Amino acid sequence: MATTAGGRKLGRVMPTGRVLAIIVPFIVLLVVGGGTWYLYGALNPPPKQQPIAFPHPVHVETLQLDCQFCHRGAAIGPAATVPAVEQCMFCHKVAVTDRPEVQKLRAAWEKKEPIDWLRVYRMPDTVRFVHEAHIQAGFDCAVCHGNVGQQQVVQHARDLRMGDCVTCHRVNEAPTDCTTCHY
Ligand code: HEC
Ligand code: HEC
Ligand code: HEC
Ligand code: HEC
Ligand code: HEC
Repeated sequence: MATTAGGRKLGRVMPTGRVLAIIVPFIVLLVVGGGTWYLYGALNPPPKQQPIAFPHPVHVETLQLDCQFCHRGAAIGPAATVPAVEQCMFCHKVAVTDRPEVQKLRAAWEKKEPIDWLRVYRMPDTVRFVHEAHIQAGFDCAVCHGNVGQQQVVQHARDLRMGDCVTCHRVNEAPTDCTTCHY
């Protein structure tokens, strides 16, 4: 009797073939679906978004701030530099504190955290660029960065690859040996 009962129980367990018939298409769906999703993501990267939507136009055009009021390194060193939160707070302790983007700024300031601005212009590690030399030579920021005062989001405005750099150096009788621009 016990054997029959056991046999009946065993009979209710799904045969391996049926189990596979259900699981395999599921796995295939997962792999294909996941792959498609990954590929879509790789081919359509999400647009770069700054942690705070900083508008150049209001600061440059409306408030008439000089570029070097914020980018203080440009005339004196290799990097132009982006201002620290404290420098924004000179004004934003009182200016438009009700706006959501400014509240993000305030939150960072209270937590003493820097803002991780995404870079728009970035040379490979093998390249040496120095702002100072170009500003001292009399070039305006717009020569390389376009009219930033009209860019709601900063746009890459000039090629600035090797051919572009070398051509301008040649025209202006600046050095063109490899070590000028390469470490
Ligand atoms: C001759 C071209 C040129 C001129 C003129 C120039 N830049 Fe740049 N700028 C660059 C390049 C190239 C980079 C990327 C540098 C790197 O990745 O090392 C850059 C990067 C920057 C950056 C981000 C990195 C950093 O250096 O902090 C800021 C901000 C910037 N420029 C602001 C300015 C401002 C403001 C002026 C004018 C006062 C100016 N630039 C003039 C070519 C130029
Ligand atoms: C000289 C004063 C001053 C400084 C310095 C300053 N701001 Fe502003 N900012 C203002 C004023 C005033 C406005 C409002 C302009 C308007 O809408 O008419 C503003 C607007 C803004 C806005 C837009 C708010 C909105 O949604 O309309 C953001 C974001 C912002 N500032 C961020 C910053 C950051 C980040 C810094 C530092 C890198 C900074 N500001 C430095 C005065 C300043
Ligand atoms: C109130 C401060 C302020 C002023 C004034 C200002 N900037 Fe900026 N700038 C910023 C901040 C903050 C960022 C980083 C966020 C962004 O890219 O929008 C930035 C980013 C940039 C970048 C991109 C840097 C990178 O990541 O490669 C360039 C180029 C630049 N600024 C040029 C200029 C020029 C040219 C002017 C004058 C016409 C100017 N800025 C005026 C605050 C300022
Ligand atoms: C608009 C013209 C122009 C462009 C574009 C330009 N440069 Fe220059 N660059 C000059 C001039 C002119 C000098 C020489 C300044 C001087 O005599 O001190 C110079 C000087 C330099 C120096 C300093 C040399 C030294 O030792 O003092 C470096 C480094 C440099 N450039 C790198 C670059 C790189 C990298 C690029 C491209 C990303 C670039 N430049 C794009 C015009 C340009
Ligand atoms: C005026 C500046 C300048 C001079 C001079 C210059 N380069 Fe470059 N070079 C660049 C810049 C900017 C890049 C990165 C952008 C690109 O790939 O075009 C680059 C990229 C390269 C690369 C691609 C690999 C990399 O580093 O990303 C090689 C290789 C290279 N340069 C070799 C040379 C050699 C060799 C010389 C001398 C004959 C030279 N360069 C002189 C600016 C310069």
